[in-house]
Amino acid sequence: MAKEIKSIGVIGSGQMGNGIAHVAALAGLDVVMTDISEDRLKSAMATINGNLSRQVAKKVITEAAHQAALKKIKSAPGLDGLASCDLVIETAVEKEEVKRQIFHELCAVLKPDAIIGSNTSSISITRLAASTDRPEKFIGIHFMNPVPLMELVELIRGIATDDATFEASRAFVTKVGKQIAVSEDFPAFIVNRILLPMINEAIYTLYEGVGNVQAIDAAMRLGAHHPMGPLELADFIGLDTCLSIMQVLHEGLADSKYRPCPLLVKYVEAGWLGRKSQRGFYDYRGDKPVPTR
Ligand SMILES: NC(=O)c1ccc[n+]([C@@H]2O[C@H](COP(=O)([O-])OP(=O)(O)OC[C@H]3O[C@@H](n4cnc5c(N)ncnc54)[C@H](O)[C@@H]3O)[C@@H](O)[C@H]2O)c1
Repeated sequence: MAKEIKSIGVIGSGQMGNGIAHVAALAGLDVVMTDISEDRLKSAMATINGNLSRQVAKKVITEAAHQAALKKIKSAPGLDGLASCDLVIETAVEKEEVKRQIFHELCAVLKPDAIIGSNTSSISITRLAASTDRPEKFIGIHFMNPVPLMELVELIRGIATDDATFEASRAFVTKVGKQIAVSEDFPAFIVNRILLPMINEAIYTLYEGVGNVQAIDAAMRLGAHHPMGPLELADFIGLDTCLSIMQVLHEGLADSKYRPCPLLVKYVEAGWLGRKSQRGFYDYRGDKPVPTR
C-alpha cells in the first residue's frame, strides 16, 4: 500500500523550490527547505510570505491559513535537516552533474523508505534514479511556474519506479491541489517538449531579424491568444533553464530541429538569464520591462 506523505523536503529554494514549499505548507504538510545559498533561503522565505499575503489580499486564503502555512516551513542550509522527510523534491539548477551530486549526498542522510522526486524540466528520470541508492523510490514530479498559480504537475516514472512510489506521489500532488498529467520518460516530457521548441523558434525569429522583441511577443499574445509572449515567457522561466532544456532535447532526440538558437547561447554566456538577473530579452531594472532589441 502507498505510504501517506506528511513531510517533504525541498532542495533548492529558487522560484520553483519556494513555490513547492508554499503549496505543500498550505496543504498542511511539514516542509524543510534547503539551498547552498543562505541568501537564497532568506529571500525564498520572504517571497513565500509575500505570495501568501497576496493570496490573502485576493481572498484566495485566510490570514489564519497564511500564518499556519508559514509555521509549517523550516529553512535549513544543509541536507541533514531532510533526514526524517517522507518525500524530498530536488529543485536545484537544471544541470545533471549538480543533481547527481545532490542525490549522492542526499541518500546518505535520508531514511530508507523516503521517496526522492526531481522537479527536472527535461532530464531523464531513469538516469537520475540510477545515481541514487533507491531507483524504485525515485520519480519525476514536475511542477509548473509559478507553482501557486499553475494547475498542472507532470508525473514521470523512471523504468524502475515502483507502484507504491507512483501512488504516494499521485496522492501528494492531489493533496496540494494540482491536476496530474502522466508522461513517459522522454526528453523534456510533454509540456516542455512542445513549449520550448516554440520559445526557441521565437528566439530564432528575433535572431534572424524577422521581428523585434515587442513585435514577436505582441504577435503571439494578440495573434495566437497566448497569455504571455514567448520572449517574455523565456525571461520568466530563466534563459539558463531554457538553454538546458533545448540541449537535453537536442542531445536526447538527436534531431537538428532542436538546435538551441545561438542568440540564446550568447545571452546565457553573458549572464543575461531573464527576470532573475534583471536582464534578458527585456531589461527589468526600471518600473516597467523595456525590450532590449
Ligand atoms: N523556471 C521554470 O519555469 C521551471 C519550471 C519547471 C521546472 N523547473 C526546474 O526546476 C529546477 C529549478 O529551477 P528554478 O527556476 O527554480 O531555478 P532557480 O535558479 O530559480 O533556483 C535554483 C536554486 O537551486 C539552488 N542550488 C543550486 N545548486 C544547489 C545545490 N547543489 N544544492 C542546493 N541548492 C542548490 C540555487 O542556489 C537556487 O536557489 C530546474 O531543474 C528547472 O529545470 C523550472
